[in-house]
Amino acid sequence: MTYHTSESLSHAHITAIGSYVPERKLTNADLEQLVDTNDEWIVKRTGMHERRIAREDEFTSHLAIAAVEHMIAAFQTDLSNVDLILVATHTPDLPFPSVACQLQAHFNIPHTGALDLNATCAGFPYAIHLANGLIAGGAHRKILVVAADTMSKITDYTDRSTCILFGDGAGAVIIESKPEPKAFLGSRLGTDGTGGIHVYRTGLADTLNGQSLEGNSKLVQNGREVYRFAVTQIPQGIKELTEAAGVSIDDIDWFIPHSANLRIIEAMNERTGISREKTLISLDYFGNTSAASIPLALDLGVKSGQVKPGDLLLLYGFGGGLTHCGLLVRWG
Ligand code: UT7
Repeated sequence: MTYHTSESLSHAHITAIGSYVPERKLTNADLEQLVDTNDEWIVKRTGMHERRIAREDEFTSHLAIAAVEHMIAAFQTDLSNVDLILVATHTPDLPFPSVACQLQAHFNIPHTGALDLNATCAGFPYAIHLANGLIAGGAHRKILVVAADTMSKITDYTDRSTCILFGDGAGAVIIESKPEPKAFLGSRLGTDGTGGIHVYRTGLADTLNGQSLEGNSKLVQNGREVYRFAVTQIPQGIKELTEAAGVSIDDIDWFIPHSANLRIIEAMNERTGISREKTLISLDYFGNTSAASIPLALDLGVKSGQVKPGDLLLLYGFGGGLTHCGLLVRWG
């Protein structure tokens, strides 16, 4: 592991992106065969049409590797001088070794630190926030950030209120030190641990804050409570983040919220004044892919040519914890 010291602060920039979703589709019609639901309800309540589902032998590390490979193909990225790998996931193949260590081995990256971090659906902006701080402080120069989850492995396909939502995917970016101008304009992190009971998955314990949990090792969610959390906390967070950064709503080129549910996102649009046209989503054909949902939407925007170098992005993740993280950053 190499530590860098720097007398003057560096500027961190996102310089490359790639993403991957598995081939197999799970459509609303497929879900009608599994649980008592229908296409009209799902589209009206969530905006979702399809999700991608990993094969039985396909895990988060495989999706993560494929996303990095796509990034290398699109941006000719050199990984040999990456000095830290951060993987945002709550569905690693194994409790340990981490997915980050699996990436190090696969890509044979010679001198790097590697760790997974778990901020559930807010994991991507959290990891970017950390990468920015480590580069700005001079500790690192080039960080590979991957956000990947295989939600299908932890979804209860007998529970119609959750199984319609989730899909699998991965996104990868490079954050590296570059000269002026400054690309990261602000961040806002928040946590409500008392709300953890509203979306969880049991592991070693089956109680939380003294309350008993449904110990089926699949995701359990009180959708209405998470919905309420998202539509109140995130618009307030956006107000505080933009005011602190001295940025107006009109300055934002692209809003990329966690793709949890289109109704949640439309409520955020209404409450913040950020138009739907400036909002990038990935949920319509990929579902809620947890940590991967924001980089999937950003990659779609970059590949389609909508997102251009210098554009100001507002990324906002939220999810289990309960936790949330917003970032203002220029692309490229
Ligand atoms: O990424 C992690 C963060 N998670 C989220 O952001 C999830 C946030 N929450 C949501 O997206 C929504 O709450 C859901 C999509 C989960 C549910 O939508 P909702 O509009 O909040 O529905 P609801 O839970 O209030 O249920 C309304 C009705 C109920 O029937 P009754 O009690 O009114 O007769 C449910 O039983 O809809 C019923 N229902 C369904 N009907 C058909 C629930 N799921 C389904 C379904 N198909 N799949």
